[in-house]
Amino acid sequence: MKSRYVYISIVMVLSVGVIFLSGFTAKKVKKVIVTKETIGEKLFFDSILSSDYTISCASCHKPAYGFADTSAFSKGVGGKLGNRNTPSVMNMSMRESFFWDGRAASLEAQVVGPIENPVEMNLKFSKAVERIKRNKVYQGLFQQVYKKSPDSSSIVEAIAAYERTLETDHTPNDRWLNDEPGGLSESQIRGRDLFMGKRTRCFDCHFTPDFTADEFRNIGLFNGNDANDSGRYLITKDPKDIGKFKTPGLRNVAVTAPYMHNGSFKTLREVIDYYDEPAKFMKHSINRDTILPIKIGLSELEKQDLEAFLHSLTDDRFITKKKK
Ligand code: HEC
Ligand code: HEC
Repeated sequence: MKSRYVYISIVMVLSVGVIFLSGFTAKKVKKVIVTKETIGEKLFFDSILSSDYTISCASCHKPAYGFADTSAFSKGVGGKLGNRNTPSVMNMSMRESFFWDGRAASLEAQVVGPIENPVEMNLKFSKAVERIKRNKVYQGLFQQVYKKSPDSSSIVEAIAAYERTLETDHTPNDRWLNDEPGGLSESQIRGRDLFMGKRTRCFDCHFTPDFTADEFRNIGLFNGNDANDSGRYLITKDPKDIGKFKTPGLRNVAVTAPYMHNGSFKTLREVIDYYDEPAKFMKHSINRDTILPIKIGLSELEKQDLEAFLHSLTDDRFITKKKK
C-alpha cells in the first residue's frame, strides 16, 4: 500500500514538474517572429545608415510626433540643416508620390534619398549596404526572411514595408463616420461642416480617407523673393508648377507642428488664420491657386471649430502619450 502511494506521488510530482517546465521553456524558447517589417523597423531606428553613426531615420521622423519633426528644419549629420520641413511618414501606403515636390515615385525609391543626402545621413547607399552586409545581427535576420545576405533591394524593401505599417485610423473622426462611440464633439461637427463646405474649400484638396488628393497645388507660399522654394517646378520645369507642393495628408496633423514645406507656421491656428486671408501674410505671392478664397471671413468661433475638427484626426496613440 505504502509503496503504491509513494509511487503515485512521485509520478504526480514528476508530471507537475514536466508540465511546469514545459510551460516555462515554451515561453523562453518562443521565437520573436522576424518579418520584412520588423527588419525595416530596426533599420529605421538604426544610425548605421548615417556616415558618422549619429542619425537614424527616426532622428527626424520622431515616433512621438506622428513621425514628423518638431523644428522647421531638421538637423542631419554634423548638425547641418536641411531646407524643407520633415513631413510625417505615417499613412503613406496610399500615396502616389513622395517628398514635397513628388520626386520619388514609391516608398522603395524614396529610401536612398535621405541616406545619400549630404545634409541628412550623408552616406553612399553602396556603403550603407556594405555595413549592413558585414553586421552579424542583420546577416541573421535577412537570412531568416530573404534566405540570402542583405542587399540593396532587400534593404529598401524592408524599410518601405515597415513604413506601410504606420497607418492610423483610431480617431474620433473615423469613429464618428462608423457610428461608433467616442466620435466628434459638437464643435468638431461644426468644424467638419466648415472643412467640407464651399466657403473654405479645404476638402477640395484635402479629401478622405487621408485628407489629401495627392495633387500638387500652390497655396501662395512662394513669392520668388524671401519665399523662393519653387517646389514641383524643380522637377517638371513647367512654369505652371512654380510654387506647387504635394498636398499633405492631415491625419495626426495636431501633433506634427510646425507646418508647410518650410515649417513657417507654428500652430494650426496660424494655418487657419493664413487660409482665412492669405494675402495678409504673403503679399506678393506668385501663382496662388484660384480656388483658394481671397478672404473666407471666419469668425473666432468658426476658427476654433475648424481647429477642433483638425484635432479629431489624431490617432488615440498620440492622445495617451500626451496624457502621461
Ligand atoms: C535629417 C532629417 C531626416 C532624416 C535623417 C530622414 N528624413 Fe525623411 N524626410 C526629411 C525631410 C526634410 C523630408 C522632405 C524632403 C523634401 O520633400 O524635399 C523627408 C521626406 C521623407 C519621406 C516622404 C514623405 C512624404 O510625405 O512625401 C519619407 C517616406 C521619408 N522621408 C522617409 C525617411 C526614411 C526611410 C529615412 C531613413 C532612411 C529618412 N526619411 C531619414 C528629413 C529626414
Ligand atoms: C488648393 C488646394 C488646397 C486647399 C483649398 C487647402 N489646402 Fe491645405 N494644403 C495644401 C497644400 C498644397 C499644402 C502644402 C503647402 C506648402 O507647404 O507650401 C497644404 C498644407 C496644409 C496644412 C499643413 C500640413 C502640414 O503637415 O504641414 C494644413 C493644416 C492644411 N493645409 C489645412 C487646410 C485647411 C484647414 C484648409 C481649408 C481652410 C485647406 N488646407 C485648404 C492644399 C490646399
